[in-house]
Amino acid sequence: MDIIQAKDYTEMSKLAADLLVKHINNTKSPILGLATGSTPIGLYKELVKRYKQSEISFKHVTTFNLDEYVGISRSNPNSYHYFMNDNLWKHIDIDLANVNIPDGMADNLEKECIEYEERIANQPIDIQILGIGLNGHIGFNEPGTSFDSRTHIVELDESTREANSRFFDSLDEVPKQAITMGIETIMKAKKVILLVSGKAKATTLAKLISNEEVTPDFPASVLRKHKDVTIIADEEAREKIKL
Ligand code: F6R
Repeated sequence: MDIIQAKDYTEMSKLAADLLVKHINNTKSPILGLATGSTPIGLYKELVKRYKQSEISFKHVTTFNLDEYVGISRSNPNSYHYFMNDNLWKHIDIDLANVNIPDGMADNLEKECIEYEERIANQPIDIQILGIGLNGHIGFNEPGTSFDSRTHIVELDESTREANSRFFDSLDEVPKQAITMGIETIMKAKKVILLVSGKAKATTLAKLISNEEVTPDFPASVLRKHKDVTIIADEEAREKIKL
């Protein structure tokens, strides 16, 4: 795993944007895996800026999001669909027919998971953007998730619901389930870019790059087995590691 050292959140976001812009500009039909949460917001802002400066076009880009809550509609401001539209899609020239995000309102959620996985298998992801949870989750793959998991329905950890409740009016409103790409799905991406920012993630990052065993108890540890992972971490997140 390579680590790119960013000074702060702004620089982390710019460095990630540099990598994506380069890839998009050098690839005929780029396929990106995207994340939500607070970490990639700066990256999306930066991509919008570069689009507005005509450095980049998203016309031929296809995207797959990692996850979506179950039971909240696309128009709900807390849905990941809404988040992506608000932070990225509505500001750029992407063809909405090419954006993919699991449908958490599907009548048949199992079928939705199988079809989502098939779509990714047919259009393999070039670069997957990831954030990381304090407990090492990637996507909504909580500790204990099997490394051969594909897109599936998850029961959210109480700790994850609490962490995400900051976006909702109350903890009660945070959905209890989500659809997420599995660990195997994520590992199939040709390249992974993991963004890590802030003091709160320092222990998590230290654990990730330690030589501890690769274990489902700390899902992100699986990334040590991926052949092309770039971590972009800011100073605060690197507080507990020596490079
Ligand atoms: C988001 C996702 C999650 C987040 C993680 C970190 O699509 O899959 O794994 O990346 O929970 O969230 P933030 O960035 O809010 O700290």
